[in-house]
Amino acid sequence: MSFLSVQQVSRSCMNGEETTAVLKDLDLEVGKGEMVMIMGPSGSGKTTLMNSLGGIEMPDQGGISLDGLVVTSLGPNDLNQYRREKVGMVFQFYNLIPTLTARENVMLALEGRKLSRKDSRERAQRQLDLVGLKGKSDRFPQEMSAGEQQRVALARALVKEPALVLADEPTGNLDEASEAMVLDLLLKARKELGTTFIVVSHNPRLKGHMDRCYELRHGRLSAI
Ligand SMILES: Nc1ncnc2c1ncn2[C@@H]1O[C@H](COP(=O)(O)OP(=O)(O)OP(=O)(O)O)[C@@H](O)[C@H]1O
Ligand SMILES: [Mg+2]
Repeated sequence: MSFLSVQQVSRSCMNGEETTAVLKDLDLEVGKGEMVMIMGPSGSGKTTLMNSLGGIEMPDQGGISLDGLVVTSLGPNDLNQYRREKVGMVFQFYNLIPTLTARENVMLALEGRKLSRKDSRERAQRQLDLVGLKGKSDRFPQEMSAGEQQRVALARALVKEPALVLADEPTGNLDEASEAMVLDLLLKARKELGTTFIVVSHNPRLKGHMDRCYELRHGRLSAI
């Protein structure tokens, strides 16, 4: 079985009386250390798929497993542990905690690890330096630009050194130089840690670095 295996996953959403099928018998197999890009029109279900892979939403049907762990069969506690330890998510709208500084937001991802506050602070700071935010660690999200917040969100996902990184439009608000820096970080994580990446993006500059690219349409993925 692949490192990440998605089999026959279906998910519907309720809008009032109407039920809309968002994901329909979707299959995906990803090897360890692979980088996979997912494109698709707005509303096609990309975020829904990412949330399902990240254990945030449960599919109505089908199975998802990561490294032999059947995510779709986990109870609430194990699912929590899965989200905390195995997955780093870069959310489309960042989801930073507004009352915490950039550094504190990143440190939060390390909670539950046996790290002293000092070590956790240093690790968070190093990761913020790596995304080009040296000197901005004490800012609150509202004091940062969209591109800066996006990089805090990336730092928060990478600081855990998770097996799987799910990044929803991670370069949407970045200039070319920041984007190149972010891409270098992803490639470095893959090379040094064997991190597997699923990236939702429409950025043609990222596409060239991906192992595979899929389009999500009508609830399924097709290779492009
Ligand atoms: N909580 C929800 N309740 C009801 N419908 C939802 C919910 N979340 C998403 N949907 C619907 O599911 C479909 C897929 O949404 P999703 O956010 O996954 O799309 P997307 O591909 O990420 O779009 P975008 O490119 O705009 O971010 C949409 O039709 C949306 O209206
Ligand atoms: Mg989305």
